Amino acid sequence: KEWEGYTEGLVRLTPGRWLFPSTFIQYADKYYHFKFQEKDVLLMTYPKCGTTWLQEIVWTMRNNPNLDNPMAKAPVNARVSFIEMDTLLKSKKMPDITPDHPLMKGFQMMCPGRDPADGVFLQMTECAPDPRTIKTHLSLSLLPQNLLDTSKVVYLARNPKDAIVSFYHHSRIFKNHNYTGTFDEFVQFFLDDDLIYGPYWLHLKTAWKQRNHPNLHFMFFEDLKNNNMEELNKLNNFLNTKLTEEQLKNISHYTSFSEMKARANLLGDGADMFFNLDIVNKDGGFFRKGEVGSWKGKYTTEQEHKIDQWIKKNLGDLDINFKYSN
Ligand code: A3P
Repeated sequence: KEWEGYTEGLVRLTPGRWLFPSTFIQYADKYYHFKFQEKDVLLMTYPKCGTTWLQEIVWTMRNNPNLDNPMAKAPVNARVSFIEMDTLLKSKKMPDITPDHPLMKGFQMMCPGRDPADGVFLQMTECAPDPRTIKTHLSLSLLPQNLLDTSKVVYLARNPKDAIVSFYHHSRIFKNHNYTGTFDEFVQFFLDDDLIYGPYWLHLKTAWKQRNHPNLHFMFFEDLKNNNMEELNKLNNFLNTKLTEEQLKNISHYTSFSEMKARANLLGDGADMFFNLDIVNKDGGFFRKGEVGSWKGKYTTEQEHKIDQWIKKNLGDLDINFKYSN
């Protein structure tokens, strides 16, 4: 699509009709055969469904239960590596990562002797110290088929009405997406599965099918927001982190929207490489609202009707009851 920032265009994979920047092809096999380990926890989401929030929660539960670990000062994306980020970097508006970029210093420290040409983020994921907590937006079908026999996966879903609004904002503030079209066009892109990582429904349904697998924990953004302690307790059981109620309470506060927004250091130094700072300054940054139902008032009556029909058609008889407001 014209608006996409990706220099080398997009590619649609079959089966599934997954849409990716065409750089994905270079790495697809490596993701499909990635050597996951028993102690790994993989955090899986469709974009804008609360990934960063989940990253901070799970990393903190596993590595910083008493909130005194100095490593917590590093940006969350440095502590929880984004396995397929290499595929998102080639973009018209983003300069290549030069050897003096802070990211490269991190890479050289973590992966001494490795060649960045083989994938900076992929290799940082490989070299990350145990226990690894890894982030992905890839569907289960694009990862090793024995993944759930090997590692734990946490899947976080979000209602599509909020996800669309959040993805629109994201696509404008991030230079690699560099979206310059209208909101109406963006809604249509989402509904037609013309956004990277789509189709949204296939992503969701592939994980939902596995929701009873003992190594997959399926969660909703809306529950995490409205029943935070209950959801942290469930995660505590799933991850076997054995945290006390007091520790969970402190983590709940530490990972709340206002606390994370106040600490925001998502990408550390060099963030201007990733963000359209003029739009961030005008419309807000990554931590936008963090709410359930912030889509209200954003859609026209026609858009809302179209989205409702699309949800009805795609949900079918699936027993998912999304909450669209508090
Ligand atoms: P909004 O744009 O609706 O505010 P992702 O990390 O997958 O990109 O998701 C980003 C969304 O999660 C954004 O939603 C962001 O504000 C929200 N978010 C991030 N941290 C949060 C937190 N601690 N609590 C609630 N929402 C959070």
